[in-house]
Amino acid sequence: MGPTLVNARQLVDTAHALVGSGKGLLAMDESNGTCNKRFAAEDIAQTEPMRRAYRELLVTTPNLGSCISGAILYDETIRQSTASGVPFATVLTEAGIVPGIKVDIGAKALAGRAGETITRGLDGLRERLSDYAAMGARFAKWRAVIALGKGLPSRACLAANAEALAGYAALCQEAGLVPIVEPEVLMAGDHDLDRCRLVTEEALHAVFAALYEQGVLLEGLILKPNMILPGLDSRLQPSADVVAAATISTLQRVVPAAVAGIAFLSGGQSAELASERLNAMNVMGKAMATRVPWPLVFSFARAIQRPALHIWNGEGDNAARAQEALFHRANCNRAALRGDYSAAMEAG
Ligand code: 13P
Repeated sequence: MGPTLVNARQLVDTAHALVGSGKGLLAMDESNGTCNKRFAAEDIAQTEPMRRAYRELLVTTPNLGSCISGAILYDETIRQSTASGVPFATVLTEAGIVPGIKVDIGAKALAGRAGETITRGLDGLRERLSDYAAMGARFAKWRAVIALGKGLPSRACLAANAEALAGYAALCQEAGLVPIVEPEVLMAGDHDLDRCRLVTEEALHAVFAALYEQGVLLEGLILKPNMILPGLDSRLQPSADVVAAATISTLQRVVPAAVAGIAFLSGGQSAELASERLNAMNVMGKAMATRVPWPLVFSFARAIQRPALHIWNGEGDNAARAQEALFHRANCNRAALRGDYSAAMEAG
């Protein structure tokens, strides 16, 4: 038996608003370090005013709320406002988009395990969650990172990260925030699809065992997994249908039906491939004799932002065109949730 949650109804309602509305999530929770890295790749100045301007562009995109149900912010971003002084969390809420917050403080080296990490951030989390809730956040995100390689991942890495994810999820629910639980099996490497499938299954199994131990309410939780894919350096790149079938069958084996929804990360896939594969999953999920029990949506960062960032390039004059590019990707991904996405949507 889990703890008695006085706010169970609130958690279920928020989770439903995020994943049950035919829309998906915009991940815009890059830490300053990651955001600066993306800026550097485009030759954009890596300063707080530039990060603020870019995030203002994202949250003020016209009609974004027709495709996006929730946006994940970062500690710096949830404290920022538009040039005219409106906090980003307020801009989002007024656009019908639920504000959320990344609360882990990053993946750090795991003791004695070269090449592996444990995600940190549990110290003081109860107090931080209460501060973020006061700033308007209604859900949170924590990302664990699982690298594949010779002898990796270790059971120690899977167990330590599962434990941390469950501890985080329990604290979120106590604070009335829906936890997004993200154990990401990385695409880096030359492994094949089957290896990704086996490791993802093991990682999710460990995560749901830990969530059960901690009494986390699954109906008030969103899982953010990777799709089942071969490594980026693998010579074998399967069709979208193969990826969709492998991803759905893996999830069916290890994710309880009570989970509110599944919101995939993009993990370094191209924008178009991420949309195509998400579409294939929704087409397949609806056609199956035993229907997939959860909404299959998106919570992309790179696969939704990358074209917009490239067009913006740090220049205010490009902002409107960048917003059109962001809206286009959001709209393609919303179509993918209905199984209506096709390459024709990319024309022009
Ligand atoms: P990507 O879609 O770029 O993988 O990012 C998703 C995310 O939120 C990573 O934590």
